[in-house]
Amino acid sequence: GGRSLEETLERLVADVPDFPEPGVGFKDITPLLADHAGFTQVVEALAAPGRDADGNPTVTKVLGMESRGFILGAPAALHLGVGFVPVRKAGKLPRETHAVSYSLEYGEAILEIHTDAVAPGERVLVIDDVLATGGTAAATIELVERCGGIVAGVSVLLELGFLDPRSKLPGTQVHSLLVS
Ligand code: PRP
Ligand code: MG
Repeated sequence: GGRSLEETLERLVADVPDFPEPGVGFKDITPLLADHAGFTQVVEALAAPGRDADGNPTVTKVLGMESRGFILGAPAALHLGVGFVPVRKAGKLPRETHAVSYSLEYGEAILEIHTDAVAPGERVLVIDDVLATGGTAAATIELVERCGGIVAGVSVLLELGFLDPRSKLPGTQVHSLLVS
């Protein structure tokens, strides 16, 4: 039995109009996170691009971006049976890092990774909650490449298709559970 993924997302992702400002529709995933069966189903679906047809992992790390990518990426790593790597905002990681700046709606921000977090040739799956402009994911891909790693795919719960994030991610396999 069990519910379809589509039904789970429809039931547990709340549409909040006019947040954070008038005219913007916000997708709130906190009801999904609070539901054990729904959260499990979504984590399994996000991890699926990191498996082959026999169910064996095809990556050796999952990367999640601070902060909302941590909530989905860490359980997906455990589910795949691989380690988790945090990609953090500037100044949080204590050892030697690679840093990449990316543009936000207003101004710029920096993401970092420990230089030894991904080994040369290692295949990783990148997981985040939302793909909007694609800037966060593009910066993360660049960080993996600086380490010499290979991004096997980017897996997100929600893709804002109207912002055309895939144009920032040429050559990358993008997997979205929901496109709006
Ligand atoms: C949000 C979201 C994604 C990113 C998507 O993160 O969690 O990581 O924006 O936007 P983009 O595709 O235009 O880069 P945010 O930077 O707001 O930080 P948070 O995860 O700490 O809330
Ligand atoms: Mg984020």
